Amino acid sequence: MDMEKLVSLCKRRGFIFPSSEIYGGLNGFWDYGPLGVELKRNIKEAWWQDNVRSRDDMVGLDCSIIMNPKVWEASGHVGGFSDPMVDCRETKDRYRADQLYVFKFELPAGPLMVAVAGGTAQDAKDSLDERLSKLGNKNALPIKKKDLPTPSVITYTELPEVDRILVIGPTATSAGSLTEPRQFNLMFSTNVGALADASSKAYLRPETAQGIFANFKNVCDTGRVKLPFGIAQIGKSFRNEITPRNFIFRSREFEQMEIEFFCHPSEAAQWYAYWRKARFDWYVRHGLQSGRLRLRDHDPDELAFYSTATADIEYEFPFGTSELEGIAHRGDYDLSQHTKFSGKDLSYFDEEKKERYLPHVIEPSAGADRATLAFLCEAYQEDEMGGETRTVLKFHPRLAPIKAAVFPLVKKDGMPEKGEKIYRDLKRHFNVFFDEKGAIGRRYRRQDEAGTPLGITIDGQTLEDDTVTFRDRDTGRQWRVPSAGVVQAVRDLVEPSTDA
Ligand code: GAP
Repeated sequence: MDMEKLVSLCKRRGFIFPSSEIYGGLNGFWDYGPLGVELKRNIKEAWWQDNVRSRDDMVGLDCSIIMNPKVWEASGHVGGFSDPMVDCRETKDRYRADQLYVFKFELPAGPLMVAVAGGTAQDAKDSLDERLSKLGNKNALPIKKKDLPTPSVITYTELPEVDRILVIGPTATSAGSLTEPRQFNLMFSTNVGALADASSKAYLRPETAQGIFANFKNVCDTGRVKLPFGIAQIGKSFRNEITPRNFIFRSREFEQMEIEFFCHPSEAAQWYAYWRKARFDWYVRHGLQSGRLRLRDHDPDELAFYSTATADIEYEFPFGTSELEGIAHRGDYDLSQHTKFSGKDLSYFDEEKKERYLPHVIEPSAGADRATLAFLCEAYQEDEMGGETRTVLKFHPRLAPIKAAVFPLVKKDGMPEKGEKIYRDLKRHFNVFFDEKGAIGRRYRRQDEAGTPLGITIDGQTLEDDTVTFRDRDTGRQWRVPSAGVVQAVRDLVEPSTDA
């Protein structure tokens, strides 16, 4: 699937627009249009319904975005949440040092070092040829491109300091324009109150998780919960990402759907295994069934120092396989940090075990925007129907922005009135659409492109026996349903069975 086609469909049909587009947009920020907001809301609601409301061991929270800045000292974000950045003095471009790949060609006159920016070494390798051609065109290569030997590759971070002066930056023409890596904190800062000084400095949260830890004691004190239990939150997070890219995959303002699941240390491994599987299955159940979804366990050297296990749920996007959700075994790291920084006792007294302890935490942390993008990529298909090529978004009915579209076949013989009545009945329960204009085939195609699972047509036979035609988006199959049964038939399609 071509990413450009998807981005263009999203714009054209009102799923996703660049933020503040009439002013030229703002890199890393996106707006959800009328169809996109329904899709993303359905994803969040399905997540909330399945993980919070339908469970006995989960409660929800909605915390403020700006919190006491000590929260971020305790969590480690003030000290550590940063990327090493490199600036180019020649072109003023900025790069992440660990995503800057330096290709070293050993030449008789000395080494030639060319840096290429890329998310992965493979991305950089793919762009190397084009980069060398550009340098060749500007006479910036000491020998012809075709005579260059095979290079070795290393990231700028790993490159010995003495060699950095020899590197030609990714958009520069001469060597030595790249600075040393400098730490750059990813948190957006702001000031609270009238005075803009150090004492009023605060941050927009870079994750929703810390609001949950900061409220752990409050939730325990409400008396509604006992271990093991989880606290869930959906909300906006902000990161001043250096290289926002790949549409809504990496943006600077995004939404997270996070769970912190608290349990006795001896049960943590079991709960980790449970959530790792439960979260993977959730995506499959909602349509990620093409084999592009995988579960990848982190190698021991990838783990944070406090974590004994972490797994990523990854999706094969058109631009590469990347993380959709992480499931981390965080031990008691967060609660012990907040105990230390707040001076409050966050331990839990277990009435059943007659034991006081600091619970361990399993954290399934998902991105609502990345999930939206994965569901869009998976749903997008071009296929043949009725001898024509069509574009269709095959969303799971529970996630589809519009559940059904009502079409009077012609604008006469009482069909529009009958259609209007069915539309009004449905609209009390679902997001539905009414369209009486144009050829019926065209109307079907437009709804296929919006991902609407059901077409409901009022036709000649409706006037005779009060049935309507249902049309299935994916197969084009048609069948008749009595008008009185339409609401229930749509409900059967879009509401999950009890195992969801
Ligand atoms: N509390 C743990 C945490 O925040 P993370 O791996 O940094 O972990 C969790 O983020 C999820 O949030 C990611 O798997 C991704 O889905 C989403 N996410 C993180 N940064 C993002 C960004 N810049 N744009 C969109 N989604 C992002």
